Amino acid sequence: MRLRLLITTIFTFLFTFTMASFFSPSSSSASPLGPEMEPWHPESKFEPFGSGLDVSNLTPVGEAFDIKKVAVAFLSQRYSIDPTSLFYRNGYEDDVTKHAFVGEIHDGIPFSNEIQGHVVFNKQNKVVTVSSSLVTIATASISSSTPTLSLEEAIKSAEERLHGSFVPPSSTATIAETVQDDRQFLEYLASADGSATLVYAISVANDSEGTSFLAYVDAHKGSVAAAISYVAQ
Ligand SMILES: *[C@@H]1O[C@H](CO)[C@@H](O)[C@H](O)[C@H]1NC(C)=O
Repeated sequence: MRLRLLITTIFTFLFTFTMASFFSPSSSSASPLGPEMEPWHPESKFEPFGSGLDVSNLTPVGEAFDIKKVAVAFLSQRYSIDPTSLFYRNGYEDDVTKHAFVGEIHDGIPFSNEIQGHVVFNKQNKVVTVSSSLVTIATASISSSTPTLSLEEAIKSAEERLHGSFVPPSSTATIAETVQDDRQFLEYLASADGSATLVYAISVANDSEGTSFLAYVDAHKGSVAAAISYVAQ
């Protein structure tokens, strides 16, 4: 009798549990981020140049090779992009090659990391490979570089949408200190339709849910335009 009661209780419990998870909206357990929230990744062009393409013409006579300038000039020339909209982001050097990463910029605001050029040189300063997801955006379809929302408002929007708390970029800075320099969070997010949206790029995490996101919050509308999930549970 007791055993039967126990089995019935367990069965009822399991049944209720299963049905509850079938019918409840998938808000609590599932990630608040659907795949449609992923930022647009423009197709990256890749070109190999065998033993290396001579680009010495991009260094003015009498000047030493400067990887920052040459990488920008090369990408600008090869893909017909205004050189003033490109900037050297960073690079590194190993035993056989030198790497330069180039970003795109509009009105002093950089495009997000999805938009990038990568030039690889050999030790003779010849280009061995290039890959580029740099885009040509019509000025008319770029949203204003002056945000409508404050950083605080954008943080609130990201925290609510992604169920987390703001994570300042430097662990030593307080949130108040971080928020003073709100321009460092501004980026342009390019879309497949050829437009670009001014966004705040904000990190939001929730330790108890084990989530961590980079949220791109529309700096004019306040909605989360895109987000990248860093922790896949
Ligand atoms: C983090 O997740 C927990 C568990 O789901 C939730 O109760 C809490 O409100 C979340 N924190 C924030 C800041 O949203």
